[in-house]
Amino acid sequence: MNENRLEELHVVARAMVAPGKGILAADESSGTIKKRFDSIAVESTEESRRDYRELLFRSETAMREHVSGVILYDETIRQKAADGTPLTTLIEQAGSIPGIKVDKGAKPLPGCPGETITEGLDGLRERLSEYYELGARFAKWRAVIDIGDNGQGGRMPSHTAVHQNAQALARYAALCQEANIVPIVEPEVLMDGGHDIDTCYEVTKWVLSELYQELYYARVELEGTILKPNMIVPGKKAADQSSPEEIAEKTVRCFRNTVPAAVPGIVFLSGGQSEVEATRNLDAMNRAYRGELPWALSFSYGRALQTSALKAWSGKAENVRAAQIAFDHRAKMNGLAQQGAWSDAVEEAA
Ligand code: 13P
Repeated sequence: MNENRLEELHVVARAMVAPGKGILAADESSGTIKKRFDSIAVESTEESRRDYRELLFRSETAMREHVSGVILYDETIRQKAADGTPLTTLIEQAGSIPGIKVDKGAKPLPGCPGETITEGLDGLRERLSEYYELGARFAKWRAVIDIGDNGQGGRMPSHTAVHQNAQALARYAALCQEANIVPIVEPEVLMDGGHDIDTCYEVTKWVLSELYQELYYARVELEGTILKPNMIVPGKKAADQSSPEEIAEKTVRCFRNTVPAAVPGIVFLSGGQSEVEATRNLDAMNRAYRGELPWALSFSYGRALQTSALKAWSGKAENVRAAQIAFDHRAKMNGLAQQGAWSDAVEEAA
Protein backbone atom coordinates (compact mmCIF):
# COMPACT_ATOMS: atom_id res chain seq x y z
CA MET A 1 0.00 0.00 0.00
CA ASN A 2 1.11 3.54 -0.76
CA GLU A 3 2.70 5.09 2.32
CA ASN A 4 0.55 8.23 2.41
CA ARG A 5 -2.60 6.14 2.29
CA LEU A 6 -1.42 3.97 5.12
CA GLU A 7 -0.46 7.04 7.15
CA GLU A 8 -4.00 8.43 6.69
CA LEU A 9 -5.49 5.18 7.97
CA HIS A 10 -3.05 5.08 10.84
CA VAL A 11 -3.96 8.64 11.90
CA VAL A 12 -7.67 7.73 11.99
CA ALA A 13 -7.00 4.46 13.87
CA ARG A 14 -4.94 6.27 16.49
CA ALA A 15 -7.60 8.98 16.89
CA MET A 16 -10.15 6.22 17.54
CA VAL A 17 -8.19 5.16 20.63
CA ALA A 18 -6.95 8.59 21.78
CA PRO A 19 -6.34 8.85 25.55
CA GLY A 20 -9.59 8.94 27.55
CA LYS A 21 -11.67 8.13 24.47
CA GLY A 22 -13.44 5.16 22.92
CA ILE A 23 -16.22 4.29 20.53
CA LEU A 24 -19.99 4.46 20.78
CA ALA A 25 -21.58 1.48 19.02
CA ALA A 26 -24.91 2.94 17.86
CA ASP A 27 -25.20 0.60 14.88
CA GLU A 28 -28.09 -1.52 16.09
CA SER A 29 -29.88 -2.96 13.07
CA SER A 30 -33.60 -2.19 12.73
CA GLY A 31 -34.36 -5.54 14.42
CA THR A 32 -32.03 -4.96 17.36
CA ILE A 33 -33.09 -1.36 18.01
CA LYS A 34 -36.71 -2.55 18.01
CA LYS A 35 -35.80 -4.97 20.82
CA ARG A 36 -34.15 -2.12 22.75
CA PHE A 37 -37.17 0.15 22.22
CA ASP A 38 -39.55 -2.67 23.22
CA SER A 39 -37.77 -2.72 26.60
CA ILE A 40 -38.88 0.90 27.20
CA ALA A 41 -42.25 0.45 25.45
CA VAL A 42 -41.44 2.85 22.62
CA GLU A 43 -42.49 2.18 19.06
CA SER A 44 -39.51 1.87 16.71
CA THR A 45 -40.10 4.21 13.78
CA GLU A 46 -37.70 6.05 11.53
CA GLU A 47 -38.44 9.19 13.53
CA SER A 48 -38.12 7.67 17.02
CA ARG A 49 -34.82 6.05 16.04
CA ARG A 50 -33.62 9.38 14.70
CA ASP A 51 -34.74 11.29 17.82
CA TYR A 52 -32.96 8.85 20.11
CA ARG A 53 -29.69 8.90 18.21
CA GLU A 54 -29.85 12.66 17.78
CA LEU A 55 -30.07 13.14 21.54
CA LEU A 56 -26.95 11.01 22.01
CA PHE A 57 -25.00 12.92 19.36
CA ARG A 58 -26.06 16.26 20.88
CA SER A 59 -24.95 15.30 24.39
CA GLU A 60 -22.99 17.94 26.24
CA THR A 61 -19.71 16.25 27.18
CA ALA A 62 -19.82 12.58 26.12
CA MET A 63 -19.28 13.19 22.42
CA ARG A 64 -16.73 15.97 22.81
CA GLU A 65 -14.62 14.42 25.52
CA HIS A 66 -14.97 10.65 25.49
CA VAL A 67 -16.39 9.38 22.19
CA SER A 68 -13.74 9.27 19.47
CA GLY A 69 -16.07 7.72 16.92
CA VAL A 70 -19.62 6.43 16.43
CA ILE A 71 -20.57 3.26 14.56
CA LEU A 72 -23.72 3.96 12.58
CA TYR A 73 -26.25 1.78 10.79
CA ASP A 74 -27.06 2.31 7.10
CA GLU A 75 -30.31 4.16 7.92
CA THR A 76 -28.63 6.48 10.45
CA ILE A 77 -25.71 7.57 8.28
CA ARG A 78 -28.30 8.96 5.83
CA GLN A 79 -30.57 10.60 8.42
CA LYS A 80 -30.96 14.27 9.29
CA ALA A 81 -31.59 15.80 12.72
CA ALA A 82 -34.96 17.46 13.35
CA ASP A 83 -33.45 20.80 12.20
CA GLY A 84 -32.18 19.30 8.94
CA THR A 85 -28.50 18.90 9.92
CA PRO A 86 -27.13 15.51 8.82
CA LEU A 87 -26.46 13.33 11.88
CA THR A 88 -22.92 12.77 10.59
CA THR A 89 -22.38 16.55 10.79
CA LEU A 90 -23.45 16.56 14.46
CA ILE A 91 -20.87 13.85 15.11
CA GLU A 92 -18.14 15.72 13.26
CA GLN A 93 -19.01 19.00 14.97
CA ALA A 94 -18.42 17.30 18.32
CA GLY A 95 -14.93 16.33 17.10
CA SER A 96 -15.88 12.66 16.71
CA ILE A 97 -15.56 10.40 13.65
CA PRO A 98 -18.51 8.75 11.86
CA GLY A 99 -18.18 5.02 11.17
CA ILE A 100 -20.45 2.42 9.60
CA LYS A 101 -21.47 -1.19 10.19
CA VAL A 102 -21.13 -2.93 6.82
CA ASP A 103 -21.77 -6.60 7.52
CA LYS A 104 -25.18 -8.04 6.70
CA GLY A 105 -25.45 -10.23 9.76
CA ALA A 106 -24.54 -13.73 10.91
CA LYS A 107 -26.32 -16.43 8.85
CA PRO A 108 -26.40 -20.24 9.29
CA LEU A 109 -23.12 -21.83 8.20
CA PRO A 110 -23.79 -24.84 5.91
CA GLY A 111 -22.58 -28.11 7.42
CA CYS A 112 -22.04 -26.61 10.89
CA PRO A 113 -25.19 -26.92 13.02
CA GLY A 114 -25.67 -24.00 15.39
CA GLU A 115 -22.87 -21.93 13.86
CA THR A 116 -22.89 -18.86 11.65
CA ILE A 117 -20.95 -17.11 8.94
CA THR A 118 -21.20 -13.35 8.61
CA GLU A 119 -22.39 -12.23 5.19
CA GLY A 120 -22.00 -8.98 3.27
CA LEU A 121 -18.96 -9.25 0.99
CA ASP A 122 -20.92 -9.06 -2.27
CA GLY A 123 -21.06 -5.46 -3.48
CA LEU A 124 -19.02 -4.32 -0.49
CA ARG A 125 -16.49 -2.38 -2.61
CA GLU A 126 -19.29 -0.18 -4.01
CA ARG A 127 -20.98 0.24 -0.65
CA LEU A 128 -17.71 1.31 0.99
CA SER A 129 -17.10 3.97 -1.60
CA GLU A 130 -20.61 5.36 -1.04
CA TYR A 131 -20.12 5.30 2.75
CA TYR A 132 -16.85 7.20 2.36
CA GLU A 133 -18.75 9.89 0.44
CA LEU A 134 -21.30 9.96 3.26
CA GLY A 135 -18.52 10.68 5.77
CA ALA A 136 -17.54 7.26 7.16
CA ARG A 137 -13.84 6.97 7.99
CA PHE A 138 -14.02 3.60 9.67
CA ALA A 139 -16.21 0.49 9.39
CA LYS A 140 -17.20 -2.55 11.42
CA TRP A 141 -17.78 -6.22 10.62
CA ARG A 142 -18.84 -8.63 13.34
CA ALA A 143 -18.21 -12.37 13.22
CA VAL A 144 -19.89 -14.51 15.87
CA ILE A 145 -18.29 -17.55 17.48
CA ASP A 146 -20.30 -19.62 19.94
CA ILE A 147 -18.90 -21.99 22.57
CA GLY A 148 -20.70 -25.22 23.58
CA ASP A 149 -22.55 -28.24 22.22
CA ASN A 150 -23.92 -27.95 18.72
CA GLY A 151 -26.94 -30.06 19.67
CA GLN A 152 -25.85 -32.90 17.34
CA GLY A 153 -23.05 -34.41 19.34
CA GLY A 154 -20.36 -31.96 18.21
CA ARG A 155 -18.51 -29.14 19.92
CA MET A 156 -18.57 -25.50 18.96
CA PRO A 157 -16.71 -23.73 17.60
CA SER A 158 -15.77 -25.91 14.66
CA HIS A 159 -12.60 -25.31 12.69
CA THR A 160 -14.81 -24.45 9.73
CA ALA A 161 -16.60 -21.63 11.58
CA VAL A 162 -13.40 -20.15 12.99
CA HIS A 163 -11.57 -20.34 9.69
CA GLN A 164 -14.32 -19.11 7.40
CA ASN A 165 -15.23 -16.19 9.64
CA ALA A 166 -11.58 -15.15 9.88
CA GLN A 167 -11.32 -15.28 6.11
CA ALA A 168 -14.43 -13.14 5.63
CA LEU A 169 -13.12 -10.60 8.19
CA ALA A 170 -9.83 -10.41 6.30
CA ARG A 171 -11.50 -9.90 2.91
CA TYR A 172 -13.67 -7.16 4.43
CA ALA A 173 -10.63 -5.49 6.02
CA ALA A 174 -8.69 -5.46 2.75
CA LEU A 175 -11.65 -3.88 0.90
CA CYS A 176 -11.96 -1.21 3.63
CA GLN A 177 -8.32 -0.23 3.33
CA GLU A 178 -8.63 -0.01 -0.44
CA ALA A 179 -11.48 2.50 0.16
CA ASN A 180 -9.45 4.54 2.71
CA ILE A 181 -11.61 3.30 5.55
CA VAL A 182 -10.19 1.85 8.78
CA PRO A 183 -11.63 -1.62 9.39
CA ILE A 184 -12.70 -2.55 12.90
CA VAL A 185 -12.34 -6.34 12.87
CA GLU A 186 -14.74 -7.87 15.38
CA PRO A 187 -14.56 -11.59 16.08
CA GLU A 188 -16.97 -11.92 19.02
CA VAL A 189 -16.68 -15.06 21.11
CA LEU A 190 -20.05 -15.08 22.85
CA MET A 191 -20.33 -15.10 26.64
CA ASP A 192 -23.59 -17.11 26.53
CA GLY A 193 -23.47 -20.56 28.07
CA GLY A 194 -21.85 -22.15 31.06
CA HIS A 195 -18.21 -22.53 29.95
CA ASP A 196 -15.42 -21.45 32.26
CA ILE A 197 -12.99 -18.57 31.77
CA ASP A 198 -10.15 -20.83 30.59
CA THR A 199 -12.32 -22.19 27.78
CA CYS A 200 -13.03 -18.61 26.71
CA TYR A 201 -9.28 -17.99 26.82
CA GLU A 202 -8.46 -20.99 24.61
CA VAL A 203 -11.20 -20.32 22.05
CA THR A 204 -10.38 -16.59 21.83
CA LYS A 205 -6.68 -17.37 21.41
CA TRP A 206 -7.52 -19.73 18.57
CA VAL A 207 -9.88 -17.24 16.91
CA LEU A 208 -7.39 -14.36 17.12
CA SER A 209 -4.51 -16.48 15.85
CA GLU A 210 -6.58 -17.53 12.86
CA LEU A 211 -7.70 -13.93 12.29
CA TYR A 212 -4.17 -12.46 12.18
CA GLN A 213 -3.04 -15.25 9.87
CA GLU A 214 -5.86 -14.43 7.45
CA LEU A 215 -5.25 -10.67 7.71
CA TYR A 216 -1.68 -11.38 6.66
CA TYR A 217 -2.78 -13.50 3.70
CA ALA A 218 -5.21 -10.74 2.66
CA ARG A 219 -2.36 -8.18 2.75
CA VAL A 220 -4.04 -6.01 5.36
CA GLU A 221 -1.77 -3.39 6.95
CA LEU A 222 -2.27 -3.77 10.68
CA GLU A 223 -1.32 -0.15 11.50
CA GLY A 224 -4.55 0.85 9.77
CA THR A 225 -6.87 -1.51 11.67
CA ILE A 226 -8.58 -1.71 15.06
CA LEU A 227 -9.48 -4.98 16.83
CA LYS A 228 -12.84 -5.29 18.58
CA PRO A 229 -12.82 -8.46 20.70
CA ASN A 230 -14.62 -9.91 23.68
CA MET A 231 -12.92 -9.86 27.05
CA ILE A 232 -11.80 -13.20 28.48
CA VAL A 233 -14.70 -13.96 30.82
CA PRO A 234 -16.58 -17.05 32.00
CA GLY A 235 -19.93 -17.81 30.32
CA LYS A 236 -22.89 -15.99 31.89
CA LYS A 237 -24.27 -19.26 33.27
CA ALA A 238 -20.92 -20.53 34.65
CA ALA A 239 -20.96 -21.41 38.34
CA ASP A 240 -17.65 -19.65 38.96
CA GLN A 241 -17.56 -15.97 38.09
CA SER A 242 -14.19 -14.21 37.95
CA SER A 243 -12.76 -11.11 39.60
CA PRO A 244 -11.94 -8.07 37.43
CA GLU A 245 -8.25 -8.74 38.18
CA GLU A 246 -8.46 -12.29 36.80
CA ILE A 247 -10.38 -11.10 33.73
CA ALA A 248 -7.76 -8.38 33.18
CA GLU A 249 -4.83 -10.77 33.57
CA LYS A 250 -6.25 -13.44 31.24
CA THR A 251 -7.46 -10.96 28.64
CA VAL A 252 -4.09 -9.21 28.43
CA ARG A 253 -2.23 -12.54 28.35
CA CYS A 254 -4.44 -13.78 25.52
CA PHE A 255 -3.79 -10.64 23.45
CA ARG A 256 -0.05 -10.64 24.13
CA ASN A 257 0.00 -14.12 22.62
CA THR A 258 -2.00 -13.25 19.53
CA VAL A 259 -2.32 -9.54 18.63
CA PRO A 260 0.68 -8.02 16.81
CA ALA A 261 2.23 -4.86 18.25
CA ALA A 262 1.50 -2.93 15.02
CA VAL A 263 -2.23 -2.85 15.85
CA PRO A 264 -2.86 0.65 17.29
CA GLY A 265 -5.80 -0.24 19.50
CA ILE A 266 -8.11 -2.85 20.91
CA VAL A 267 -11.67 -1.72 21.69
CA PHE A 268 -13.88 -4.11 23.61
CA LEU A 269 -17.48 -4.96 22.96
CA SER A 270 -19.58 -5.20 26.12
CA GLY A 271 -21.40 -8.34 24.95
CA GLY A 272 -24.02 -8.43 27.70
CA GLN A 273 -21.96 -7.21 30.66
CA SER A 274 -23.74 -4.60 32.76
CA GLU A 275 -22.69 -0.98 32.41
CA VAL A 276 -20.60 -0.92 35.58
CA GLU A 277 -19.13 -4.38 34.97
CA ALA A 278 -17.88 -3.35 31.51
CA THR A 279 -16.33 -0.21 33.00
CA ARG A 280 -14.81 -2.04 35.95
CA ASN A 281 -13.16 -4.71 33.78
CA LEU A 282 -11.70 -2.18 31.34
CA ASP A 283 -10.40 -0.17 34.28
CA ALA A 284 -8.77 -3.25 35.83
CA MET A 285 -6.85 -3.91 32.61
CA ASN A 286 -5.59 -0.38 32.20
CA ARG A 287 -4.85 0.02 35.90
CA ALA A 288 -2.61 -3.06 35.95
CA TYR A 289 -1.02 -3.05 32.50
CA ARG A 290 -1.25 0.42 30.93
CA GLY A 291 2.18 1.64 29.93
CA GLU A 292 3.54 -1.82 29.28
CA LEU A 293 1.32 -2.74 26.30
CA PRO A 294 1.93 -2.04 22.61
CA TRP A 295 -1.75 -1.19 21.92
CA ALA A 296 -4.29 1.09 23.60
CA LEU A 297 -7.11 -0.76 25.39
CA SER A 298 -10.43 1.01 25.09
CA PHE A 299 -14.16 0.52 24.60
CA SER A 300 -16.60 0.19 21.72
CA TYR A 301 -19.69 -0.36 23.79
CA GLY A 302 -23.27 -0.53 22.65
CA ARG A 303 -25.43 -1.60 25.57
CA ALA A 304 -22.84 -0.66 28.22
CA LEU A 305 -22.92 2.98 27.03
CA GLN A 306 -26.62 3.26 26.33
CA THR A 307 -28.71 1.24 28.77
CA SER A 308 -29.20 4.01 31.37
CA ALA A 309 -29.63 6.72 28.74
CA LEU A 310 -32.25 4.69 26.88
CA LYS A 311 -34.19 4.09 30.08
CA ALA A 312 -33.97 7.73 31.16
CA TRP A 313 -35.29 8.83 27.76
CA SER A 314 -38.17 6.33 27.50
CA GLY A 315 -39.28 7.99 24.30
CA LYS A 316 -40.33 11.29 25.89
CA ALA A 317 -39.12 14.69 24.66
CA GLU A 318 -39.14 16.04 28.23
CA ASN A 319 -36.60 13.37 29.22
CA VAL A 320 -33.99 14.26 26.61
CA ARG A 321 -31.84 16.18 29.08
CA ALA A 322 -31.96 13.37 31.67
CA ALA A 323 -30.93 10.85 29.01
CA GLN A 324 -28.03 13.05 27.93
CA ILE A 325 -26.88 13.37 31.54
CA ALA A 326 -26.93 9.56 31.88
CA PHE A 327 -24.97 9.18 28.63
CA ASP A 328 -22.44 11.86 29.64
CA HIS A 329 -21.88 10.03 32.91
CA ARG A 330 -21.39 6.60 31.34
CA ALA A 331 -19.01 8.00 28.72
CA LYS A 332 -17.02 9.78 31.40
CA MET A 333 -16.75 6.61 33.51
CA ASN A 334 -15.45 4.65 30.52
CA GLY A 335 -13.07 7.47 29.61
CA LEU A 336 -11.62 7.13 33.10
CA ALA A 337 -11.47 3.33 32.78
CA GLN A 338 -9.53 3.77 29.56
CA GLN A 339 -6.89 5.46 31.70
CA GLY A 340 -7.13 3.04 34.64
CA ALA A 341 -8.49 5.94 36.73
CA TRP A 342 -12.09 4.82 37.44
CA SER A 343 -13.26 3.84 40.93
CA ASP A 344 -16.49 3.03 42.79
CA ALA A 345 -16.13 6.43 44.42
CA VAL A 346 -16.17 8.38 41.12
CA GLU A 347 -18.99 6.14 39.89
CA GLU A 348 -21.14 7.09 42.84
CA ALA A 349 -20.05 10.72 43.16
CA ALA A 350 -22.11 11.63 40.11
P1 13P B 1 -22.37 -4.39 22.85
O1 13P B 1 -21.34 -3.52 23.53
O2 13P B 1 -23.79 -4.09 23.26
O3 13P B 1 -22.01 -5.84 22.86
O4 13P B 1 -22.37 -3.95 21.30
C1 13P B 1 -21.19 -3.71 20.70
C2 13P B 1 -21.26 -4.07 19.28
O5 13P B 1 -21.11 -3.24 18.40
C3 13P B 1 -21.49 -5.48 18.92
O6 13P B 1 -21.24 -5.65 17.56
